[in-house]
Amino acid sequence: MGIEQKTQLSDDERLKERSRHLRGTIEDSLADPVTGAVSPEDAKLLKFHGTYQQDNRDLRNERLRQKLEPAYGFMVRVRMAGGVCTPEQWLRLDELACRYANRSLRITTRQTFQLHGVVKRRLKATIAGINRALLSTIAACGDVNRNVVCHNNPYLSPLHEDVYAWSCRLSEFLLPKTRAYHEIWLDEERITEPPAEEEPLYGRSYLPRKFKIGIALPPSNDIDIFAQDLGFIAIADKNRLTGFNVAVGGGMGMSHSEPATYPRLADVIGFCRPEQLLEVAEAVVKVQRDFGDRTNRKHARLKYTLDDRSLEWFKSELEARLGWPLQAARPFRFKDTGDSFGWVRDARGRWHLTLGILSGRISDTPETGWLTGLREIAKIHDGDFRLTTNQNLTIAGIAEANKRHIEDLLESYRIPNAVQWGGLRRHALSCVAFPTCGLAMAESERWLPHLLTRLEPVLKRNGLEQDAINLRVTGCPNGCARPYLGEIALVGKSLGRYNLYLGAGFDGGRLNKLYREGLMEEEVVAVLTPLIERYAQERRDGEHFGDFVIRAGYVSAVTAGREFHQPDPQLLAHRS
Ligand code: HEM
Ligand code: SF4
Repeated sequence: MGIEQKTQLSDDERLKERSRHLRGTIEDSLADPVTGAVSPEDAKLLKFHGTYQQDNRDLRNERLRQKLEPAYGFMVRVRMAGGVCTPEQWLRLDELACRYANRSLRITTRQTFQLHGVVKRRLKATIAGINRALLSTIAACGDVNRNVVCHNNPYLSPLHEDVYAWSCRLSEFLLPKTRAYHEIWLDEERITEPPAEEEPLYGRSYLPRKFKIGIALPPSNDIDIFAQDLGFIAIADKNRLTGFNVAVGGGMGMSHSEPATYPRLADVIGFCRPEQLLEVAEAVVKVQRDFGDRTNRKHARLKYTLDDRSLEWFKSELEARLGWPLQAARPFRFKDTGDSFGWVRDARGRWHLTLGILSGRISDTPETGWLTGLREIAKIHDGDFRLTTNQNLTIAGIAEANKRHIEDLLESYRIPNAVQWGGLRRHALSCVAFPTCGLAMAESERWLPHLLTRLEPVLKRNGLEQDAINLRVTGCPNGCARPYLGEIALVGKSLGRYNLYLGAGFDGGRLNKLYREGLMEEEVVAVLTPLIERYAQERRDGEHFGDFVIRAGYVSAVTAGREFHQPDPQLLAHRS
């Protein structure tokens, strides 16, 4: 797909252009009592406002049989830079989830909350309620800069606090300026013809595609820096922030059987000082705004702009806009992409507790009172809550006097302690998929617990119960749980069938490679069992599973996104 071949703007581009800065006919769609849906065009524009129209996939066939329209509901995504919220905000979100959504909060892989199952007539109250809690949903989805993610590790303060502050500044700086959001959801006075200069950065057509930014603080790569369109790697000297390495062009999404789409890891192109961060981010966004492919949404992310035109071209275009060169990138080393669980005390004597929440799902079940338990904790907690990009939660800044009380609440609501989990469970991620996601081809969140109970005994038998292995599951190849960075990844192909990918780097620095296609659960276990047995017997000291499967010849190492779909010589050798 060459860069000059197509000139026809995609339908989505034309829609954005004529939407009057994201107003469209959303208000008419919301007011239409005949259907629980909005018009297809407004559904697209709504994403920029932080909400996706969905329908309950469990009920789809039955509703069709009864000649009813699908059971429409909206997913509402909060914008929360760096994943930090106060106990008051937690309580407000919990209340909205119980009143208007499906009594559940879901922590996402971009460090924020999603509410599911909000019906159309409650959408405005939900979004207004989130704003009353001094949070927002604007630009949580859509072709703009999304939620800025940031390393979660409060006990590394004050360095962490510095880095977190930059993620907030970035988030604020790159917000769309349209007043459409305030008019539609917050009853601000309407303007009929918005001024042309309403969006000085994004313009009338916004970006060609979504744009994701994250800040990592080595040695932790918890945010998967190389999966971001734009990543900043914080560089410190004696615990003082000196600046950031700049990484560009990461992205996970691809489509099955479309080799022109592929995941790609970001490339580090230089270093900037802290006070240059916003300028660099703005210039990167502008290059992508002006050169990203607006003819084909499947080829519109920054990763393709870079591969089509070259990294050298990108760097010189960026530096021409900046008017100064980036400095040479500074050395850094990442250790892992996971979270550390349990209690930690910082230098100021405050406690921080990181809880493991499988798939980030916070709801009450007969076994565990996650939702009620965390609500009770929020009522007495005087620090804050920090979500991780691995769908986990840190209760941060707990006063000594509250520690015991919080421990008692965790126990009474039977909230599990991830410190006692095996290494696979501690590092497992899954996207939402069924029943809410319209793109799901297979189960993901609902399958993960079953898959873990099948694989954990295999690991135990081989003495690997405590060994950390990154497992990532998604219901389709779009990649919402960053599957192409899993040492073991299962990506939905059709109901009950998954493609198995192996061999990503434990530190998030290498993509994985397709090993087997269309496996059912039994086959997944049968294929992985001998690999795990061999790993237990033959691994070298400290060798991670992803490195082992490459050394042992199961798959080849992928060093660039374009190699992701290339036939694997290792695999061909194995089969012959
Ligand atoms: C390129 C095509 C993609 C499309 C069309 C897409 C679409 C969606 C949809 C519809 C949902 C809502 C699912 C639900 O909550 O019911 C979702 C969730 C999510 N997506 Fe994507 N997605 C894409 C790729 C990605 C990628 C590459 C990432 C990040 C690496 C990502 C991050 C997320 C996150 C954080 C969520 C929230 C739920 C979770 O944590 O699993 N998405 N996406
Ligand atoms: S990976 Fe696919 S199935 Fe999973 S949430 Fe994203 S779009 Fe839906």
